[in-house]
Amino acid sequence: MRTIVLFAMSLFPVLCASAADVDRRIDDLIARMTLQEKLGQMSQSTSLKTPLSDAMKAEIRAGRWGSFLNAGDAKDRAEAQRIATEETRLKIPLIFGRDVIHGYQTVFPIPLGQAATWDPDLVRQAAREAAREAAADRIAWTFAPMIDIARDPRWGRIAESLGEDPYLASQLGAAMVRGFQGDSLAAPDSLAACAKHYAGYGAVEGGRDYNSAWIPEILLRDVYLRPFQAARKAGVATFMTAFNTLNAVPATADPFLLRDILRGEWNYDGMVVSDYEAVTNLIAHGYALDAREAARKSIRAGVEMEMVSTSFYDHAPDLLRAGEITMKEIDDSVRDILRLKFRLGLFDRRPLPPAPDHSRALVIAEKAAEESVVLLRNDKNVLPLSKSVEKLAVIGPLADSPVDQMGTWSMDGRADFVRTPLAALREMLGADRVIYARGLINSRNHSRAGFDRAVRAARDADAVVLFLGEEAILSGEARSRAFLNLPGAQEALVDAIAATGKPIAAVILAGRPLTFHDAATKIPAILYSFHPGAMGGPAIARLLFGDASPSGKLPVTFPRTVGQVPIYYAHLNTGRPPLPSDLGVPMGNPANPQGYTSKYIDVDYTPEYPFGFGLSYANFQYSPAELSSNTLPPGGRLRITAQVANSGRRASDEVVQLYTSGPLGGSVARPVRELKGFRRVHLEPGASTKVEFTITTADLAYYNPKMQLVTEPGPYRAWIAPDSASGAAVSFEVTK
Ligand code: BGC
Repeated sequence: MRTIVLFAMSLFPVLCASAADVDRRIDDLIARMTLQEKLGQMSQSTSLKTPLSDAMKAEIRAGRWGSFLNAGDAKDRAEAQRIATEETRLKIPLIFGRDVIHGYQTVFPIPLGQAATWDPDLVRQAAREAAREAAADRIAWTFAPMIDIARDPRWGRIAESLGEDPYLASQLGAAMVRGFQGDSLAAPDSLAACAKHYAGYGAVEGGRDYNSAWIPEILLRDVYLRPFQAARKAGVATFMTAFNTLNAVPATADPFLLRDILRGEWNYDGMVVSDYEAVTNLIAHGYALDAREAARKSIRAGVEMEMVSTSFYDHAPDLLRAGEITMKEIDDSVRDILRLKFRLGLFDRRPLPPAPDHSRALVIAEKAAEESVVLLRNDKNVLPLSKSVEKLAVIGPLADSPVDQMGTWSMDGRADFVRTPLAALREMLGADRVIYARGLINSRNHSRAGFDRAVRAARDADAVVLFLGEEAILSGEARSRAFLNLPGAQEALVDAIAATGKPIAAVILAGRPLTFHDAATKIPAILYSFHPGAMGGPAIARLLFGDASPSGKLPVTFPRTVGQVPIYYAHLNTGRPPLPSDLGVPMGNPANPQGYTSKYIDVDYTPEYPFGFGLSYANFQYSPAELSSNTLPPGGRLRITAQVANSGRRASDEVVQLYTSGPLGGSVARPVRELKGFRRVHLEPGASTKVEFTITTADLAYYNPKMQLVTEPGPYRAWIAPDSASGAAVSFEVTK
């Protein structure tokens, strides 16, 4: 121990010296840069095309660009970098950014699927592999993690999110930052990460992409900002501003978000990039009259690099002359950009990492896919299927669609790495035992021309697996939906197959929570797989046949119908909470209206599946939670434990969840429950384990109406439970 301390101490002056040295080199560069060169650093472009044109080479040579995004191939990037570091006046390297969101060549489950694993270390490993693959192609910066809290499945970008909960998104977002950035940004296989979209983007009204967000400050701080603060604490190198207005001010020109909170309260010393043309989008927002004003407002607010639009470059000289922005604002931005480039080792000719090991990435991709699948129902234990099944019918538009299972951000994904469920099931059972019928050519298709074949396939088989859901292009950016049902004629396909009377299981592959209430009444077993990436096929095949047990848990609440949206577990109570008699309201037709409680008269007020929910092939029993004390003084710690046992006949992982609520009688009404911890445990049949969590008053803190972070005294409750809607509460008191 002592040796380690001495060693660390001996390194300390070296590290300090090198940080000071970097600052000195940055100051020296800034002193020598022309205004045009400074503004070039603050400009990011997509226009580096293959092959690199002479005009672009000349622009790079002149220092016109500091960064490129989603541009060129590895060869172009190498040549562009060579020009920047050898042929420009000051030899400042370029930084190449790219959307490496859920994998690069090896595609992992979409972020919402990774969130369903509740497995931070696995999420970290996936990001690490993505970084290795991307860095080998000379990318140094990824625009991930996307940590917008998403509580509206209409919003297509929920696919890219880590779900509805600030604690879960914080843990997993920080894990992604650690994975992308590795131990040191300067390592050849590290990428700078980017916390995006700062902030409030997940709350766009009506779930319509780019729409306005209205978030009271208390909710902003308690929910929407928490994952960003966690990313900041994890050392994220960059932040990206959001497209939306937040409380009537566009996030890309919001000094409250960028200066007061990010720089002031969180002491962030990294770099801030705008989103794609978000600076000139201020004009359409009606917040800037023209590009000149857009540049002024975003530079003043603290945006340092402009993505794609060119208002900084075009108008900053005039704004400076007019005294509407200051040279200090420009220099501060350039300083943060250059510091990022130093941190990444770009000034030292960052070497290429070793060629990536795709086979290792694929193993992680399969584990992530396996842990991400959520078993939503399993009546009469239809699943797992028996391997002695003679013929299996595989039906549906998503059984064999490599591009669709890769999900929304897979522009670099290698389709030849993908193994579809159909391919995996054929391999597992032998091709002659699998009868395949697509049924519909894609998820949106309305033609029933393929139904007869599909019905024949079902009739000729002993069991059917239906692969339903959404194509990849139905979720992601600008892919908001006003209906959440299975698109196309999929429900009719379910009816046709159910009518055969064969045992059916469905696997739904989608980029968001869908509503499929009626279909679910006809399908006894449903596995939900947020687009699972390259290795979705083998993972799903193993789960279907019991080589592994499902263990994913929902990172987001599933509504019964789109009319319930937004619906999330950590809501406040109303003054007129629903009664048990308000349960069981059938879908659609208004029931006999009665009672003045907070409910719907035409659908049960509860969700279809709650946050945190997911079944397995095991049978987990939770003992009542026990507390180390009934009181928690300020600065104290409370241990909360429960025994979790597997009384079933199959082994499985279980994600054990800790929730708290309270206090009652404080300065604000508090959510009915909030996630405060979780642990993935593995239990063999007959085994049990004690799961222990520790909480402090800091873990219970929330904002009061004066925007102070407080833990007020009073009665609190805690649950150790398999999901957000079950378990028995234990009570404790936070004392003064
Ligand atoms: C998206 C960002 C993305 C950027 C670059 C934008 O349209 O909102 O998430 O990183 O494009 O592709």
